[in-house]
Amino acid sequence: MASVSEVKDEPGQPPALTSLSLAEAAQEAKSKEQIVTPFDVSGGLDELGNPKAIDYDKLVDTFGSQRIDKLLLDRFEKVTGHKPHRMLRRGLVFSHRDLNLILDKYEKGIPFFLYTGRGPSSDSMHVGHTIPFEFTKYLQDVFDVPLVIMLTDDEKFYHTPRLSLKDVYKFTIQNAMDIIAVGFDMKKTFIFADTEFVDGGFAAAFNNNVRELGKRTTINQIKGTFGFNDSNNIAEFAFPAMQSATAFATSFPFIFGTDPKKVAKVPCLIPCAIDQDPYFRQCRDNAPKMGYLKPAIIHSVFLPSLRGRESKMSASDADSSIFLSDTDNQVKKKVGKAFSGGQDTAEEHRRIGGRTAVDVPFQYLTFFMEDDEELERIRIEYEEGRMQSGELKMACTKELQAYVGGFRDRRKAVTEEIRREFMRPRQLVFRGMPAEKEL
Ligand code: TYM
Ligand code: TRP
Repeated sequence: MASVSEVKDEPGQPPALTSLSLAEAAQEAKSKEQIVTPFDVSGGLDELGNPKAIDYDKLVDTFGSQRIDKLLLDRFEKVTGHKPHRMLRRGLVFSHRDLNLILDKYEKGIPFFLYTGRGPSSDSMHVGHTIPFEFTKYLQDVFDVPLVIMLTDDEKFYHTPRLSLKDVYKFTIQNAMDIIAVGFDMKKTFIFADTEFVDGGFAAAFNNNVRELGKRTTINQIKGTFGFNDSNNIAEFAFPAMQSATAFATSFPFIFGTDPKKVAKVPCLIPCAIDQDPYFRQCRDNAPKMGYLKPAIIHSVFLPSLRGRESKMSASDADSSIFLSDTDNQVKKKVGKAFSGGQDTAEEHRRIGGRTAVDVPFQYLTFFMEDDEELERIRIEYEEGRMQSGELKMACTKELQAYVGGFRDRRKAVTEEIRREFMRPRQLVFRGMPAEKEL
């Protein structure tokens, strides 16, 4: 199908068919479909115009990734000797590209590195943002590998008209401290902000990879992948090369060394929620042309909005989110107002039971409660009507207060000095350090 921007005005065409109105019609038709890009996440609308839940099976098909199945989880457990994380056990981390190749290499003692990131768009992160970071910390502990965390302050500046460079930089510092409080190992973790990573010495290799990627990426590809049009600014079009370049070990000679034959063979594994996949599809297309390995990816679902599972928790919608800076009381109030799958009256609830599939507090428990048996007990009690909505909300409040509270304590311990050290380009310490092992 021709893209909207290619439709030309024909002389004599009725006004209803100008390219502008066609663009509007296309936009409207599109909003009925499910949309998942780094900038837009929605499950689309049903025939009656009601918002639909995000269909993750369909996403796996349209994106062309692989489902994480029981077989892969068994292999993961065998290779690493660790019980899969609760998000893996419960299908919340559900899809991947080339995770099997990473396990092959790890089995042979070939090291890899982890890469994840955050676009600092607000002062405080919400609990949804910590999902990929929590999971990344687990992977760092299990595999004992180096980790690079990218803060895309440039991306948020280009994309958000109201934000100044000064605003995003302030968010960058605050978010870096939030991320450190997830519990990463300083000796194995390098965090950088795009606007700071420009130094001709340390960042030269990275910026050359950005240039190599930029040269190989056309405007057409970016429009197709990200849904951009002629009104997006030129910096937005150029940005994806930045996010991709971080997936190559050659971008970080101070971590991985400079022997080109060896460094190019160090593979990368990227944990993220599935909205970031478009960036890495681009990256994977280009990697072989540059003589590099395609990065492997492991995708999580979105933590749902407080309003319901039709949309993700999003910092741009404060009522959809529980922030890491929220007090116990705020957490309690927000969970109290969250979308419930309970019935209208206690009597009816006892008779019909609650709907865990749409109940937001129950969904949150599946992300945050570690105890499988207790979660299953709650599911059955609620679905069979013996547990009321209020009681479920209390269980969820307790779990989230503990999560946010634990975070609050660790966050207090993160000083400016610690942040600076995480963000200083330096050699990282990890098993199989260069020279010990031939790749
Ligand atoms: P950002 O800041 O939008 O999101 C940071 C990370 O959080 C994930 N995420 C969520 N996960 C679960 N539930 C939610 N409701 C939710 N909302 C967001 C995102 O998928 C992401 O993993 N461009 C990126 C920054 C980036 C990056 C990366 C992310 C640069 N390189 C590599 C992942 C991997 C961004 O703006 O993320
Ligand atoms: N194997 C490579 C060498 O011997 C480099 C290397 C070893 C490496 N361990 C690593 C790179 C861990 C990244 C991560 O020089």
